[in-house]
Amino acid sequence: MLKPLEMAHAFLAEILTKNDYALDATMGNGHDTVFLAKRAKEVFAFDVQFEALQNTRNRADAEGLDNVRLFWSGHQNINHYILGCKVAIFNLGYLPNGDKSITTRYDTTIDAIEQVLNILSVGGRVSIVIYPGHEAGKLEKVEVLDYVSALDQNYFTVMLYEPLNQINTPPLLVMIEKIKSTDDPFYDRF
Ligand SMILES: C[S@@+](CC[C@H](N)C(=O)[O-])C[C@H]1O[C@@H](n2cnc3c(N)ncnc32)[C@H](O)[C@@H]1O
Repeated sequence: MLKPLEMAHAFLAEILTKNDYALDATMGNGHDTVFLAKRAKEVFAFDVQFEALQNTRNRADAEGLDNVRLFWSGHQNINHYILGCKVAIFNLGYLPNGDKSITTRYDTTIDAIEQVLNILSVGGRVSIVIYPGHEAGKLEKVEVLDYVSALDQNYFTVMLYEPLNQINTPPLLVMIEKIKSTDDPFYDRF
């Protein structure tokens, strides 16, 4: 059975082609950026830590990938840089083996998800991997699930993929598909 991160990738890879733009909202060590770059025309990747940009650039270079554009900026600023994308991934939490105090926070995460949903192509998909094993992640799980659960079903299909019988606090995955343009006067952005 696929783990949540593997499922996150499979969900996006199913529709991603070399004609499409992809977004990595939390580049970290660049694993997700590289996964997307192998399948997309171009990947836009964001992180607040310069270390993440260095690690991601090195990883992309090692794979011979020159179709990644790295932004040293929080994903809550995506609107300032990106006009559209077909797929997006949020791999939340902190950088593995890095500073655990620099973690995603539910308020900016939700702000970014909302921006991404608006610029996403119709038929486009978003994967959100949440790690509830630390304090900020526990709160992020509650708030992000609350937010995505309230998305209008006429515009988005939202699915949850979560291990139910593990004793610790394993990651879970939210998958969203956009089924109708939000660029109409009837869409309620709350
Ligand atoms: C779990 S790691 C991402 C793993 C990464 N996708 C990979 O493939 O290695 C989470 C990352 O989110 C970053 N982050 C925290 N707050 C952020 C924000 N507001 N915008 C963008 N990235 C942020 C952290 O610096 C950290 O690198």
